[in-house]
Amino acid sequence: MPDARIFVPLCGKSLDLLWLAAQGHSVVGVELSPIAVRAFFKAARMQPARRKHGKFTLWQSGRIDILCGDLFDLTASDLGNVAAIFDRAALTALPEDIRHAYLAQLRKIVPAACKILLLTTEEPEAGETEDQPFAIAEEISSLYARAYDIDLSHVESLFEADADPLIKELVRIEHKAYLMTPKSLPELLA
Ligand SMILES: C[S@@+](CC[C@H](N)C(=O)[O-])C[C@H]1O[C@@H](n2cnc3c(N)ncnc32)[C@H](O)[C@@H]1O
Repeated sequence: MPDARIFVPLCGKSLDLLWLAAQGHSVVGVELSPIAVRAFFKAARMQPARRKHGKFTLWQSGRIDILCGDLFDLTASDLGNVAAIFDRAALTALPEDIRHAYLAQLRKIVPAACKILLLTTEEPEAGETEDQPFAIAEEISSLYARAYDIDLSHVESLFEADADPLIKELVRIEHKAYLMTPKSLPELLA
C-alpha cells in the first residue's frame, strides 16, 4: 500500500515523518508541542501552511500534515482514512498509568482494520535481571493481546553507554519492532 495514509501519534520532531512521505505515503502526525512541530519543519526545510482545525492547529506541507494539540482530543474525522499507525517511542513515552487509555483512544479514532507498527527501545529496569528482563515486553503483551495478533518482527540487541555519564558500565538494550494486526470479530468474541 504505497500511497496509504499513515498516522504517527506523538510524532515530536521525528524525521520518520519524512521517511514515510518518501516511501509514497501521506502522513498525519499529532503532537502537543508547537516548538517540536516548528523544529520538524525547520529541519525538513519546509515552509508549512498553518490553520485552525477545531481544537488543533493544522500544519501542512506536501504529503505531511501535523495536527498540533492533544491526542486525547482527536476524532476519527480529524485523521481521515488512515491505513496504519506508526508508533515509535509514543506508547513508551507515556506514563504507565495512561498507556491503556492511549491504546483505547487510538482504537476509537482509526478504522478497525488498522495495523500498528510499534517500535520500542527496551532496557532492563531497576531490579530486573538477565533472567527476568524487560518488563515493558510483558506490558505490551497485556495491553495489545486481547485485540491484536502480536508479531515481534525484529529485535536488535546492543550494548550502549548509559545516558548518565557517571555510569561507566555499558547497558544492554533491545530495539524491537512489533507488528500488531487487529483480530477479526469472531476471534474477539471467542
Ligand atoms: C518521546 S517524544 C517523541 C517521540 C517521537 N515519536 C520520536 O520518535 O521522536 C514524545 C512526544 O509526545 C508528545 N506528547 C506527549 N503527550 C501528548 C499528547 N497527549 N498529545 C500529543 N502529543 C503528546 C510530547 O510533546 C513529545 O514530543
